[in-house]
Amino acid sequence: MVFIQDSNYLQFLAKFGVGGAHPGGINLSKEIMKTESILPTSQILDVGCGTGQTAAFLASHYATNVTSIDINPIMIEKARHRMKKARLSVNIIQGSIEETSLPNETFDFILAESVLAFVNKQRALQEIFRLLKKGGRLIAIEFTIPRLLSSKLAEDIQQFYGFDALLTKKDWVALFQESGFQDIRIQKNKDISSKPEFHISKDIESSWYDVMDQHIRMNEKYDTILDYRIYTCTK
Ligand SMILES: C[S@@+](CC[C@H](N)C(=O)[O-])C[C@H]1O[C@@H](n2cnc3c(N)ncnc32)[C@H](O)[C@@H]1O
Repeated sequence: MVFIQDSNYLQFLAKFGVGGAHPGGINLSKEIMKTESILPTSQILDVGCGTGQTAAFLASHYATNVTSIDINPIMIEKARHRMKKARLSVNIIQGSIEETSLPNETFDFILAESVLAFVNKQRALQEIFRLLKKGGRLIAIEFTIPRLLSSKLAEDIQQFYGFDALLTKKDWVALFQESGFQDIRIQKNKDISSKPEFHISKDIESSWYDVMDQHIRMNEKYDTILDYRIYTCTK
């Protein structure tokens, strides 16, 4: 069993302050959000917000009410710094999406960009469902394996990234359905990419550069397996 605090990968992302740490990056986020009916009165939650790149875009572009949550204190500090610098009023909370103290039916949209793959999915989806208003939308960009993998291969990937399980499209759909979501749609947009953004912490130990190298090697090695899909569904 891999626990989140064991994920060197997530800690590497935090130390390097990688913004847009999901497939397609911020340009894919912008494209997806164009297809949603966001109003200035909409309440949006960005789950696992990382350094807050998407949350900042939503708050500035749509002038809407944005709340962000992330479990990692380094990510939270970097997200807060971003909002302060850009003079954006985004409510940033440090905590786990598996259990929050936010009130029921608060949000019109909840975004999870490469986050659910790392958490206890049943608990996180139950919490997301609770937090969404009736008719609210979940938009998730999530790691999706194309087929079942040998246990050795699966272990290699899970160990490095800290995924608690590896899911196919079918597994994700079943999970969304079990959590009560409807109108589940799956997309992929492989034409959109973005330059990653970095907000590097001071005095990073050299071992974290090794984790970055390992991540690059994993991506090359498992190019066809480390795939993703965009899932949208409605409460
Ligand atoms: C791959 S990063 C993606 C960050 C951001 N969404 C982005 O696209 O740049 C995953 C993020 O999920 C956060 N995370 C992991 N487990 C979490 C949990 N239980 N609750 C909230 N955030 C969590 C990590 O700290 C990290 O910032």
